[in-house]
Amino acid sequence: MHPGDVVPRGSAPPGDAPGHLLTSGSSADVYALDDERVLRRYREGRDATPEVELLRHVRTFDYPTPDVLRAEGSDIVMTRVHGPTLLQAMTAGEITLADAAQVLADLHGMLHAVPAPASWRLPQDRDWPHLDGGPSVVHLDLHPGNVVLTENGPMLVDWANARTGTPELDVAVTAVLIAEVAVDAGGDYSQAARALLAAFLHASDVSPLAALDDAAALRSVAPGLLPGERELVPHGAELVRTMVEITEHP
Ligand SMILES: Nc1ncnc2c1ncn2[C@@H]1O[C@H](COP(=O)(O)OP(=O)(O)O)[C@@H](O)[C@H]1O
Ligand SMILES: [Mg+2]
Repeated sequence: MHPGDVVPRGSAPPGDAPGHLLTSGSSADVYALDDERVLRRYREGRDATPEVELLRHVRTFDYPTPDVLRAEGSDIVMTRVHGPTLLQAMTAGEITLADAAQVLADLHGMLHAVPAPASWRLPQDRDWPHLDGGPSVVHLDLHPGNVVLTENGPMLVDWANARTGTPELDVAVTAVLIAEVAVDAGGDYSQAARALLAAFLHASDVSPLAALDDAAALRSVAPGLLPGERELVPHGAELVRTMVEITEHP
């Protein structure tokens, strides 16, 4: 839940742009090829093959995410989905925080019902290899900027961090992500993020507590974090711990 999730961070589109640049995030550019397709391209040339395998796997379980049409190297061509991100809808007041929290919790719940593919292996260049392995597919970046509200329901995008793991870890990462915004006292969205966090913890079937330290550790090494943002991670994790303890032992 970072403004950079919806607003280009100022990188100029390359001269040979394959289409209209929709967004330019911390690691990837997303181009509209036409009304039906987008191209997501890693700028640093990272191999998208591992996440494409997970994407195709979750689609076979009807998980709501775009279909991969073609993938090669650091490029993924997928179906284009239309609608505001959950973040945009919240900012515009088009969805209540309680409903937004339920959307996030439902996307977690449905994903964790998808069994980890037996053959999938974590690429060697990924942080926290010891957090690979678990019963489910996990997204590990499931925040409102990565959810598109389409006429067919919410769709989850941006599978860059996906791996196999535990539902607790995935829920804990989302909670810490939201909490980072909540503890940023000077931020415009601090109050809303606090309310969203409380609603998300309430809506989740899974307690993040057991995975909170791992989630904070993962967040601390997230690519694209500014030094000031990194300092918010431990404070965010503490806020989550306090809120969970209130929710679980009122
Ligand atoms: N298949 C898609 N169809 C339409 N828009 C998309 C699609 N995939 C991504 N986007 C848009 O591009 C933005 C950035 O894509 P994302 O995969 O989240 O990359 P990153 O956050 O790493 O830059 C998303 O928030 C969404 O608005
Ligand atoms: Mg994203």
